[in-house]
Amino acid sequence: MSLASASSALLRTCARQQLPVARAAVSASQQRGVADAAPKSSFDSPFGRTHEHSETTKIPNFSKYASKRSPTTNKVFSYFMAGSMGLVSAVGAKATVQDFLVNMSASADVLAQAKVEVALGSIPEGKNVIIKWRGKPVFIRHRTADEIKEAEEIDISTLRDPQADADRVQKPEWLVMLGVCTHLGCVPIGEAGDFGGWFCPCHGSHYDISGRIRKGPAPLNLEVPQYSFPEEETLVIG
Ligand code: FES
Repeated sequence: MSLASASSALLRTCARQQLPVARAAVSASQQRGVADAAPKSSFDSPFGRTHEHSETTKIPNFSKYASKRSPTTNKVFSYFMAGSMGLVSAVGAKATVQDFLVNMSASADVLAQAKVEVALGSIPEGKNVIIKWRGKPVFIRHRTADEIKEAEEIDISTLRDPQADADRVQKPEWLVMLGVCTHLGCVPIGEAGDFGGWFCPCHGSHYDISGRIRKGPAPLNLEVPQYSFPEEETLVIG
């Protein structure tokens, strides 16, 4: 080993051993310097370093901010304010929800279209009537006894859309259904077709006297809407 390399190794060893000591000395001197350099403050901090300020539980005096009135009066005032604000908020929330619901509900003209009332006394037996309900035609047929018998005698197992006549009417003499072909939506013609019911000329679908599909491309029976008889001679659709 040469003399130069031996001397540099010796210097590095000495430097490593003295480094921690030197760092500690530098750190202590820096802390002393900060403490000495800190400005003296007039702020009465409970965290001060002097012995007389070593008390850390010193609580400021807020008495000059305290209410001069009695505790009961303060409570009554607080309850009154909380109750008033709650009342005002409840009234505001109710008005908001009410406005929202009124806006969401159907308008008068829509409600008028939602239900249609029909006087059945003006429809003679064996006749059809077509009315408009929600923009669609509705067929109402006053069926004869023979038509009712014919509709009930069909073996429903032979039907494309099996449905008993009793499941399509509330009163056997009144057949009510939408006049919309279940194929592509044409309006069928009454008292026509091979089964004495309705015939759709668009593509040749035949419906029987109960509105059930019997022949042609339509897949389903004519749809029966929701309806009721609030009185003997009154029909309400919708
Ligand atoms: S729309 Fe009625 S048969 Fe096609």
